[in-house]
Amino acid sequence: MDNSLDSPAAAPTHLMVLTGASRGLGLAMARQWLRTPGRHLIAVARRPDTTLADWAAQHGSACTAWPLDLADAPAAAQQLGDWLATQTVDRWANATLLNNAGVLSPLGPIGASRATELSNALRVGLEAPMLLTAAFLRGTEGWSARQGGAVKVLNISSGLGRRAMAGSASYCAAKAGMDHFSRAVAMEEAQRPHPARIVSLAPGVIDTDMQGQLRGGDPALFPDRLRFVQLQEAGLLDSAEAAAAKVLAWLARADFGAQPIADVREG
Ligand SMILES: NC(=O)c1ccc[n+]([C@@H]2O[C@H](COP(=O)([O-])OP(=O)(O)OC[C@H]3O[C@@H](n4cnc5c(N)ncnc54)[C@H](OP(=O)(O)O)[C@@H]3O)[C@@H](O)[C@H]2O)c1
Repeated sequence: MDNSLDSPAAAPTHLMVLTGASRGLGLAMARQWLRTPGRHLIAVARRPDTTLADWAAQHGSACTAWPLDLADAPAAAQQLGDWLATQTVDRWANATLLNNAGVLSPLGPIGASRATELSNALRVGLEAPMLLTAAFLRGTEGWSARQGGAVKVLNISSGLGRRAMAGSASYCAAKAGMDHFSRAVAMEEAQRPHPARIVSLAPGVIDTDMQGQLRGGDPALFPDRLRFVQLQEAGLLDSAEAAAAKVLAWLARADFGAQPIADVREG
């Protein structure tokens, strides 16, 4: 594990652990967040983007890539917990875990889906965010940032966690689970003297690989395919950059966490 960015010379004060930082919404958020000096991003993905460290350095920030497969959620959570344990309680002015990685298993009815693909969607989309959140809350216990409400968890959910869609049951289940998990953790934190703040946020409809997957579905197996084609044709998709700006604005809100379930379109 690379701890070189903890040197006093770099001394960033804002920490973010961001999953799915290699493409789509995650990469756009990484680049935007790193544009402000004094930040340290831990960028998690199977194939990390190789330009982020230079981008961060150009902007007076720092980026460490963690090439991890979140399908092995216990190992990822262990790595996060071990790293957090190396940090002193007053090292970071604020700290955020942003669970952004998500997976659509091949579109179609549940009975036609492979067990390994369903399992992967749930591991990456639900198990990993849960285990990382647990490690993050445990690892930031007693940090001074907690006292000012500056420890946050932002889970990237979806409208499909709140409105079911045929052909994507594992994705809908993972996002609904993420929402309810966030509600429960918010209740737990509310009972603590220095609560972490948590939100499960739907980010809108975004022009990424995931939308390409939805448009590329087999209409015989995925009845909503045409709707996604029409959304693109009507120009109703946000660019990854526009969606990233909305999500990061939500993260910066003074009332972040007041409502654990939110949607950028209802801001
Ligand atoms: N696009 C939309 O319209 C839309 C709408 C609502 C919600 N969302 C949500 O927004 C988030 C980002 O979506 P997106 O559209 O940007 O998706 P995307 O373009 O498909 O990118 C997914 C990201 O997740 C990472 N990832 C996937 N499997 C992983 C694994 N096993 N281990 C580690 N990282 C993994 C990918 O990195 P690697 O491949 O390098 O591992 C990639 O960085 C997701 O949670 C998605 O559900 C998207």
